[in-house]
Amino acid sequence: MSTSKRRILVTAALPYANGDIHIGHMVEYLQTDIWCRFQRLRGNECIYLCADDAHGTPIMLRARDEGITPKELIDSMSERHQADFAGFGIQFDCYHSTHSEENRLQAQKIYLALREGGHIHTKTIEQAFDPEAQVFLPDRFIRGTCPRCKAEDQYGDSCESCGATYASSELVDPVSVVSGKTPVSKESEHYFFKLGDFQSILEGWIGAGHVQPEVRNKLKEWLDGGLRDWDISRDAPYWGFKIPDTEDKYFYVWLDAPVGYMATTHKYCESNGQSFDDYWGKDATTEVHHFLGKDIAYFHTLFWPAMLSGAGYRTPTAVYCHGFLTVNGKKMSKRRGTFIAARTYLDHLDPEYLRYYFAAKLSSGLDDIDLNLEDFEQRINSDLVGKLVNIASRTAGILGKRFESKLSASLPAPEVYEEFAAEADAIATFYEGREYSKALRKIMALADKANQYIADQAPWKLAKEEATLEQAQAVCTQGLNLYRMLITYLSPVVPRIFDDSCKLFGEELTWEGARKPLLGVGIKAFSPLLQRVDKDKVAAMAAASKPPSEDKPKEATKEKKAKKSKKAATVPEGCISFDDFSKVELRVAKIVAADHVEGADKLLQITAKIAPGDTRNIFAGIKDAYAPEDLVGRHVVVVANLAPRKMRFGMSEGMIIAAGPGGKDIFLLSPDSGATAGMVVK
Ligand code: 2FM
Ligand code: ZN
Repeated sequence: MSTSKRRILVTAALPYANGDIHIGHMVEYLQTDIWCRFQRLRGNECIYLCADDAHGTPIMLRARDEGITPKELIDSMSERHQADFAGFGIQFDCYHSTHSEENRLQAQKIYLALREGGHIHTKTIEQAFDPEAQVFLPDRFIRGTCPRCKAEDQYGDSCESCGATYASSELVDPVSVVSGKTPVSKESEHYFFKLGDFQSILEGWIGAGHVQPEVRNKLKEWLDGGLRDWDISRDAPYWGFKIPDTEDKYFYVWLDAPVGYMATTHKYCESNGQSFDDYWGKDATTEVHHFLGKDIAYFHTLFWPAMLSGAGYRTPTAVYCHGFLTVNGKKMSKRRGTFIAARTYLDHLDPEYLRYYFAAKLSSGLDDIDLNLEDFEQRINSDLVGKLVNIASRTAGILGKRFESKLSASLPAPEVYEEFAAEADAIATFYEGREYSKALRKIMALADKANQYIADQAPWKLAKEEATLEQAQAVCTQGLNLYRMLITYLSPVVPRIFDDSCKLFGEELTWEGARKPLLGVGIKAFSPLLQRVDKDKVAAMAAASKPPSEDKPKEATKEKKAKKSKKAATVPEGCISFDDFSKVELRVAKIVAADHVEGADKLLQITAKIAPGDTRNIFAGIKDAYAPEDLVGRHVVVVANLAPRKMRFGMSEGMIIAAGPGGKDIFLLSPDSGATAGMVVK
């Protein structure tokens, strides 16, 4: 590895501003953070940039749904995202937004340069349009029956059942997810980027080792199949940047998303007195490394380098794709409590655990990684607590009790120290190549050796005899110095434990600094560096990740906020007043009909008689727990005076009371057999 100082710009994919960060996302932000921390530790100049990806239809519709502006939504999401990242110790040098002036200018500049170069053309196309919501519909907002295998309720671009991909116009019985109406086909003029103009440039770039071998093979298939023009415009209404010289055309979110890397560089450079061209100029020598999920390789390895080179900028040094996260061997699932929000994790567990666990699983390839919650607990308790931190607590404990926390003046086994130091280059090579699991295996093998050394020397016995007291101090000094080297090796992965260890040693440890032992000085009093993983907390995190029930009609956020503040003014947090409660009218109802709802995963449509001559249509999210035929004739408790709610599939005129965490575990509350429909529940 070269020893001259490198200048490196690193990005992770920009998270969409329409949802919270979950632990699946964290694989990437942690993988990238570890790499950047490693680079800085080695003395390189490395900046880690990121931003919220703040445009597009889903954000526009979610804001509309919540009764707030898209700007309000993206501002609050940005705060939440940054708080989550900070909670996991992700160290960004700048965090920005694609909805920024820097990005507007940079996206326009790139577009105009591409247009100038003759790489943009227009064409009239037909697209699905929601006649009620008056919006063009991206494929993901259309559901219907798969044209190939006839599985129901599939997305507009691909079938989860048979894997077929198709155009949304091919779906059988398509329905707009926004309004429930059948989409119509509508013509409009779109702007296209002529990707094919860059075929040979892309072939050269891809062949020059900027992407992983697996990605290169996939790209070769795409290149051999011929590159299609890329549709870069969307019609109003759209949440994004208007295309220059148009009235109602906007850049497709994926056009300005990667430009967000450049916008964030602008912002970073402005705050740090640096030059944008040093990073992105055609002749820039700075390295640019992008980390991302394998699902978005296409955008970063074809469109992005083509856009950059067409607009006169440099192309990326490297694009690194990673696999997805499964939990307990399966896709993350809300019902199983494995769809774990970053915040939920942080509410229950130490972020250092997950940093270590992911690192222990990560390699340079595209394979998915699995978080098995039992293995997680065992791995952390065995490796981090039982092996690594144990070295420090055993030795620093004795030094504190018997030697006033003073290290001896020399090492009793310098050859062991040298053996540990000799692994530095191999470990560095693994980090550099994103082979974190291999780096950690090596570090843990050394931790085993350090523990073995301490066990063989038994300093606690030596400390009992006056004659061997000095030897005890020397053995502890040796053990603690071995720990000092190991925690330096591991510092990109567990930065909080590293920082606390630096405090213990009273120094800012560096990769080079750890090569020399710390001798003859006092250390600070030892305090525990890491707690064992508590099984109950892991279980509590999973429980907190299960939604109480799904498909409830949504309340507008403003309404929710207003209610919350009103409530807070009159009664303690979390309570409702007796007056509020007495407004709720609970009645016994008899279910007279129940049916499946076409297109709904969780809902049943129920007709409930709540009084003679008063039957209600109610949508209830209990499909996983009850078959319609088992419900007919049954008495249940219903909120009878709930204002009717328009749901995606029709009007819901009440709410059936049930208990349980959700999914199969939902239990309808049934009145005793004497109760009859219409009785008021007291
Ligand atoms: O897939 C995603 O989550 C996108 N928001 C990633 C964008 S990366 C970059 F291009 F902005
Ligand atoms: Zn299918």
